[in-house]
Amino acid sequence: MSINNKIKNICCLGAGYVGGPTMAVLANKCPDINIFVTDVDKEKIKKWNSDNLAELPVFEPGLDELVSKNRNKNLFFTSDIESSIRKADIIFISVNTPTKEHGLGAGYASDLKWVESSARLVGKYSEGHTIIVEKSTVPVRTAELIQKIVSSYSKISNKKLPSYKTFSVLSSPEFLAEGTAIKDLETPDRVLIGGEDNEALDLLSLIYQKWIPKEKIYLTNLWSSELSKLTANAFLAQRISSINAISALCEPSGADVKEVSKAIGSDTRIGGKFLFAGPGFGGSCFQKDLLNLIYLCKFYNLIQVAEYWEQVLKLNEWQKKRISKLIIEVFFGTVTDKKIVLLGFSFKPNTNDIRESPAITIALELIENGANLKIHDPKVSKEQINKVFSAKDIFKNQNKSQNKKWEFSNELSTLFKNADAVIIVTEWPDYRDLNWQEISKVMRKPSWIFDTRGILSEKDLSNTDLNFWRVGKGFIERNK
Ligand code: UDX
Ligand code: UDX
Repeated sequence: MSINNKIKNICCLGAGYVGGPTMAVLANKCPDINIFVTDVDKEKIKKWNSDNLAELPVFEPGLDELVSKNRNKNLFFTSDIESSIRKADIIFISVNTPTKEHGLGAGYASDLKWVESSARLVGKYSEGHTIIVEKSTVPVRTAELIQKIVSSYSKISNKKLPSYKTFSVLSSPEFLAEGTAIKDLETPDRVLIGGEDNEALDLLSLIYQKWIPKEKIYLTNLWSSELSKLTANAFLAQRISSINAISALCEPSGADVKEVSKAIGSDTRIGGKFLFAGPGFGGSCFQKDLLNLIYLCKFYNLIQVAEYWEQVLKLNEWQKKRISKLIIEVFFGTVTDKKIVLLGFSFKPNTNDIRESPAITIALELIENGANLKIHDPKVSKEQINKVFSAKDIFKNQNKSQNKKWEFSNELSTLFKNADAVIIVTEWPDYRDLNWQEISKVMRKPSWIFDTRGILSEKDLSNTDLNFWRVGKGFIERNK
């Protein structure tokens, strides 16, 4: 089968962290296909079209190159959703699916209102036969919802027009991790395509085969594909909670979690990846997908299974809180007016994404306790942090918020003067090479370094009088 005759135009609804990079790679690998990336947020589209590549709305290593190479050749960022859908042979749905805040399933289920409105737009504007691909992570059986919505439009149009619209819905979940998105998209471990329509499955598979070996493309039924995505993220999150649980045990017992990770990770059955203890996982996916899985289990009355997965989330919350608590306890329970430098605010390095970042919880606990916080991050902006903080109770209440102090700086050199403590929350490369000997000279004594990512060793702090705590090792007595 030739895709060139069948697939000329692709549309993507949602130009976020998933839609943008995925389509940039697709455009680069398929120069014969025109890709139209749309978003309801017109400002975001403007940024995607900015001549200044530093202004792209998503920071991802290698993304700017792909955008500058293909933009306005076969990769178009546009707010004209209607005509992009009209032209498209395949439509990817990459809109956000946040956890529901109200109504049935609140706090657990995904809010599918954006998926639903996207399906309605596709139903309304598409022409002829359209393949719809779920890219967003969705609860199992969402494809059924999309199919029902779009089919209802094909019936309406049947009445008006002699021609009719038909649809095939596929699931092809995204496994990219932020910070390595381009690499993950170019050389994925596997690609999943779920669906019932063999022709549509083959067409999408042929597109991926332009750069991915066929044996890495797994064709499954729709529900297996949707459930595999939730399960993959649940397993990854579970590994992090498992090693974080062990990190807490290492600290009082004298073991070192790094040594334990290495020892268990070299067992090929366990494997060495995703065994880095830290301040808890963040990002837009793990928590949301676990909540979804838990909701699904409860829906099928599998209460024990739901409770099993719920524990992964509880442990994650506990890890963030236990770290802020131990910092406060070091200062005898009061951090009021202590100057604390928080290094890193994104949920992981090489991204400007702060969704569910452990830095949020740790920062808020410290601010709530009166600390004077100086926040640094190489890619996150003050506005992003402000937006998250201002939605929180401690900043909403005018009276309460008066004494809540935080400042943002992206200038490292002046940050440490008179600081009582430094907390490394995100392991940005910039923080690995800091000159602790110089930093120690300008900090107020006694001064503390809390390394929640385990990137520093005692050697890095040699010839300083810095007190040192590292995740999974605890307080480290040093010969200063
Ligand atoms: C994606 C997935 O869609 C989500 O399910 C997954 O779990 C995480 O990754 P992501 O790309 O990270 O979401 O989200 P975001 O960066 O917020 O991008 C979504 C975009 O969709 C936003 O730019 C938003 O403006 C846009 N959108 C939303 C639409 O264009 N139309 C809508 O109806 C709703
Ligand atoms: C994740 C999945 O990895 C990806 O396949 C899926 O498509 C989307 O969700 P992402 O959230 O972008 O990707 O990043 P990931 O690298 O998985 O990290 C998630 C969080 O776990 C980060 O906060 C990270 O710091 C933390 N983490 C990761 C650890 O604390 N320890 C580890 O060993 C690995």
